[in-house]
Amino acid sequence: MENKSKITDKLSRPVKDLRISVTDRCNFRCTYCMPEQIYGHRYEFINKSSLLTFEEIITITEILVEMGVQKVRLTGGEPLLRYKIEDLISTLSKIPGIKELTLTTNGYLLPKKAEELKKSGIDRITVSLDSLNNEIFKKINGRNVDVSKVLKGIEAAEKAGFNPIKVNCVVEKGINENSILEMAEYFKAKGHILRFIEFMDVGTLNQWNLNKVVSSKEIVKIINSKMPIEPINPTYFGEVASRYQYKDGSGEIGIISSVTQPFCGNCTRLRLSPEGNLFTCLFSNTGTDVKKFLRSNKSKKELESLIKKTWLARKDKYSIDRSSNPDKSTKKVEMYHIGG
Ligand code: GTP
Ligand code: 5AD
Ligand code: SF4
Ligand code: SF4
Repeated sequence: MENKSKITDKLSRPVKDLRISVTDRCNFRCTYCMPEQIYGHRYEFINKSSLLTFEEIITITEILVEMGVQKVRLTGGEPLLRYKIEDLISTLSKIPGIKELTLTTNGYLLPKKAEELKKSGIDRITVSLDSLNNEIFKKINGRNVDVSKVLKGIEAAEKAGFNPIKVNCVVEKGINENSILEMAEYFKAKGHILRFIEFMDVGTLNQWNLNKVVSSKEIVKIINSKMPIEPINPTYFGEVASRYQYKDGSGEIGIISSVTQPFCGNCTRLRLSPEGNLFTCLFSNTGTDVKKFLRSNKSKKELESLIKKTWLARKDKYSIDRSSNPDKSTKKVEMYHIGG
């Protein structure tokens, strides 16, 4: 296979970060992701035989590691709902070349699973939590889940030895911007890295519009008014979150400005969906069907060549184009399908 460093897309970006969505199912129904009205009891999720098997996921990952992937994130839906996820983790963690194996979860199942995740080889965990206010959080998660459940999950991750733990908070105007300070105070005291994410127009169901976005500038202003912060350097090239540290030395937060300061220029991420499509952008409407290849008589070489071709042809920069040319297409992959 071609030298790793040579595989870059049309905008000279290498592939470094693979995000694997292992299931489209979730035990939450967040209003901005899987609204209950649409994803009710009758909704048909991907059936088991259509999901990529662990062996298939591993084959794709190995090929991509050869192409330059160093970081792998398991996501969903809710990845902890995938049966025997620990087995997949164990095998992935042994692939030489993967420097970091991480997982994004809503935290609900962590009290049961955190220790096993650590043992199987997850290096780092990110938990999604949008408010500490029960009324607000229950409305957002759509399943009446109490904040305490997620906080217990975070505690379990801490006990299992995960450090640092990152917490993702999507900020939506009129919904949870009043939770920003309380969240910052709480996680500052706990020593976890809280990241605020600008609400994005992912998928087609969350009725996004620019008026619902609280900009990173506004978020910084709100925090700064009570707990002074200052910008610090990224930990690695292409880091999605802009980092800030508290001036009193008590830790850091991150702000992900995907709408007001898009970061497509450095985007080295490729996404694998549960049923085996490779998506080159969070806002793609179509992917490359690798399952079809895996389940045919094609050779591994042919599969490698398909994946390589997919990356070489990539020219996505949706978030940069959004402001000048808002995409009105109705077909866009949903967040729960492709992973955050
Ligand atoms: P770490 O720094 O390793 O923790 O990873 P990360 O910064 O990629 O964090 P994480 O995977 O938790 O991503 C945080 C959030 O940023 C996601 O949930 C998305 O909302 C957003 N995000 C991540 N990747 C992209 C991307 O490629 N494009 C856009 N527009 N948003 C992204
Ligand atoms: N905008 C920003 N972030 C989102 N997430 C899901 N939908 C959106 C959106 N529309 C985040 C979740 C979770 C991660 C998987 O993606 O809150 O932290
Ligand atoms: Fe589930 Fe995460 Fe989507 Fe919420 S944002 S419904 S927790 S996949
Ligand atoms: Fe990458 Fe697409 Fe997000 Fe831009 S919009 S950072 S290209 S995933």
